[in-house]
Amino acid sequence: MTERAKVAVLISGRGSNMAALVYAAKAVDCPYEIILVASNDPEAPGLKLAEAEGIETFVHPHKGLKRSEHDQILHEAVTNVGAEYIALAGYMRILSDDFVSKWQDRMLNIHPSLLPKYKGLDTYQRALDADDTHAGCSVHLVTPELDDGPVLAQTAVTIMPDDTADTLADRVLIAEHQLYPAALTKYVSREADPNWILDQVRDRALALEETHERPSFGTPGWRVGSEKTGKYFAYFSRRHFGETGTSVFVKTSGLDEQSALLDADPDLYFAPKFYGKSGWIAIRLDTGRTDWGHVADSLKKSWRMVAPKRLTKMMDIADDF
Ligand code: GAR
Repeated sequence: MTERAKVAVLISGRGSNMAALVYAAKAVDCPYEIILVASNDPEAPGLKLAEAEGIETFVHPHKGLKRSEHDQILHEAVTNVGAEYIALAGYMRILSDDFVSKWQDRMLNIHPSLLPKYKGLDTYQRALDADDTHAGCSVHLVTPELDDGPVLAQTAVTIMPDDTADTLADRVLIAEHQLYPAALTKYVSREADPNWILDQVRDRALALEETHERPSFGTPGWRVGSEKTGKYFAYFSRRHFGETGTSVFVKTSGLDEQSALLDADPDLYFAPKFYGKSGWIAIRLDTGRTDWGHVADSLKKSWRMVAPKRLTKMMDIADDF
């Protein structure tokens, strides 16, 4: 099995969602492991459970510290153990924008409502007061705005006629315990999902000027210029032409640059069949460690090699300075 994603869980209290994440991670095929449970409260009951399960814990009370100071201490603790993701599980402190931006796209939270409804507290009573038919829970990516990031997964929980906030909370919690491990599993595995990878390439290719997508021999490709005279600057390959894995083909300036890249990083690059002869290079996208900034740069360089002069003229002038 490939290496598991390393996850730190932040809690402030009971820690039942943390426990759900920990127990799901005991399955042999779980793609993540919990390597740290951290809290701002030394009395958080969840800490004892984490210790009993043999998981490293970290506590630092926030009292007397500025928010940014406390968050920096947390950031160091989480980074020191080598965490790649953070799962907030009933962590009841607002995190500073600085901390959130350091963990952008790598920090998840669970919230007991069907977001965007009922951010903040008292979610169950608010759902009851509004005569909603359903309450529920959401797992979302954390952004600076409270309970606001992109929703990754939700479970709706039917409200029963004699529900109180407490009975509803009990049932929503059952749903939370199912949802969080499943959503985290899916999220950390996304780089192994060819459809997710294709979306990433597509977003970056179509962000370039005057581009469109057109399949070529059954695989998605991207062209620059008009529909009629446009030229291809990238192809997506999912075991296409018998290649292994998932990759994107881009143009290099020629065979010299192609062989320099192959020498520099043979795990990342390979010469694609057929296209390789004319200086195209394949960038592997299924290593689980894709640098998407580098992919965007490579697409742009390739785009520039075939784009009509009127689009690249300004860039050429800038380069001459
Ligand atoms: C959970 O219901 C979680 O959704 C909620 O706190 C509870 C923590 O319980 N989180 C929030 O309200 C975040 N805005 P737990 O400590 O047993 O996991």
